[in-house]
Amino acid sequence: MQIEPYECGTRCAPSEAKLAIEGVSKIYGAGAEAVVALTPMDLMVRDGDFLCVVGPSGCGKTTLLNLVAGFDTPTGGSIRLDGQEISGPGAERGVVFQQGALFNWMNVLENVAFGPRATGHSVAVAHERALRTLQMVGLEDFVQKYPYQLSGGMQQRVGIARALTNDPEVLLMDEPFAALDQQTREGLLGEIRDLWKRTGKTILWITHSIEEALFLATHIVVMSPRPGRVRAAFRSEFGTSEDPMVAVSPEFVAAKRQIIELLSAEAPKEVLAQ
Ligand SMILES: Nc1ncnc2c1ncn2[C@@H]1O[C@H](COP(=O)(O)OP(=O)(O)O)[C@@H](O)[C@H]1O
Ligand SMILES: [Mg+2]
Repeated sequence: MQIEPYECGTRCAPSEAKLAIEGVSKIYGAGAEAVVALTPMDLMVRDGDFLCVVGPSGCGKTTLLNLVAGFDTPTGGSIRLDGQEISGPGAERGVVFQQGALFNWMNVLENVAFGPRATGHSVAVAHERALRTLQMVGLEDFVQKYPYQLSGGMQQRVGIARALTNDPEVLLMDEPFAALDQQTREGLLGEIRDLWKRTGKTILWITHSIEEALFLATHIVVMSPRPGRVRAAFRSEFGTSEDPMVAVSPEFVAAKRQIIELLSAEAPKEVLAQ
């Protein structure tokens, strides 16, 4: 078992992609102040892919996620979900942020029910849906708690439940576990894999951790900074492995080394140190 290079821009025809990113670029500001965050990139994501975008700080990962989420617009190119051009945020895209995105004045149930309420469902329907997704992330006994009463890991699980509760077509996750301690993170990564297997959702997962990408993904896109661009892409079998020790297997370590070498071949030392 190993990772295999593939062409992420031509994985399938745009019409067959769940998420079709074509020639997308992003420049912040203008003139001498302009920052090229993303040079034109092509990326085809198929239904049910677990795609991890990995790369060091500043390579444009959050920029890419924000464009797909519809929080910002690309400078060039187009992004389509199920053939529909993305022109703003939408309930068919569930977003999980790094941290701090819960409403502190609402309890867990109300936080998760917020999405269905915002899309016009009655309180009863919204609460029923919220309860169902809270069960999926193992928080059914904490519905009355407020965010400050939960650990960081539990807060992120509420965030995931909230993103799932509108039954989105795609989950967009920007380093959702980066602020958690190592043990909590490892436990939650296992849960995310199970959740992906159970729901078959298409997931776009952003991370700076090569190990996390290898553990989760069916497809890995490696990005480089200055300017942000796709450096390489790999299919990976580790994300679907049933071996609980897969992350310490020689093949896994060799794949990690391959990606580290790829990034360090061109990056100045200060970039790798970030
Ligand atoms: N709103 C913004 N205005 C100007 N520059 C930005 C803005 N957001 C991000 N950048 C710059 O764009 C580049 C990519 O940033 P970002 O997408 O946040 O990278 P990553 O998430 O990979 O760390 C960085 O150089 C960053 O400083
Ligand atoms: Mg970021």
